[in-house]
Amino acid sequence: MKLQVIIGSTRPNRVSDRVAKWVANEAKNLPDSTVEIVDLMNYDLPLLDEPISPQYNPDRKPNPVAVRFLTKLSEADAYVLVTPEYNRSYSAVLKNALDYVDFQFKQKPVALVAHGSTGGAQAVSHLRGVIPGLLAVSVPQAVFLVGRVDEFMDESGKLNDEVAAKPYGPQASLKAMLESTNWYSDALAKARTSGS
Ligand SMILES: Cc1cc2nc3c(=O)[nH]c(=O)nc-3n(C[C@H](O)[C@H](O)[C@H](O)COP(=O)(O)O)c2cc1C
Repeated sequence: MKLQVIIGSTRPNRVSDRVAKWVANEAKNLPDSTVEIVDLMNYDLPLLDEPISPQYNPDRKPNPVAVRFLTKLSEADAYVLVTPEYNRSYSAVLKNALDYVDFQFKQKPVALVAHGSTGGAQAVSHLRGVIPGLLAVSVPQAVFLVGRVDEFMDESGKLNDEVAAKPYGPQASLKAMLESTNWYSDALAKARTSGS
């Protein structure tokens, strides 16, 4: 699987970057997989600036930053969206980035890792309504990190030992979610190449 982990926050002092590193480090344990972090900080996308909905514009000419972003996305066959919860939903910067997507996610799995004071369940719930719009498949499992991430995860993405050791804690949830993402990625990649 070629997995991209997308950082859904561009805020100064954000913690989503360390969560993305945590996800990427665990994903490196999957067999036959490569993992790459895609940081929206590196793509200064304007608020969607196109005259026609991207999926319905055969003559689409995205702005140069969007071309670079979409080209990057098209290299992967599975995605993890790392999102904070802001005001009971996912981040606006992630929504804007997803609105640029036309067919890059089509028939590919998208998994969700959320974090926030209350864990990000509403961010995940809202993203699950968005993923079909991208023609993608939502991975059933999701990961929720409750509370202040910087209190239990360091800048390199390492969970503190106590949290990491919990049998049904976030490390176990992440492993299960990534294994499921890999399963969907393989199944969907086969189906895409068989033309079914
Ligand atoms: C504008 C704003 C609104 C927030 N609203 C919520 C919320 O509704 N629910 C929640 O659980 N956490 C909320 N939080 C806390 C963030 O989810 C939490 O700090 C998160 O780790 C921020 O991610 P970031 O540092 O990568 O941007 C909010 C934070 C901000 C900045």
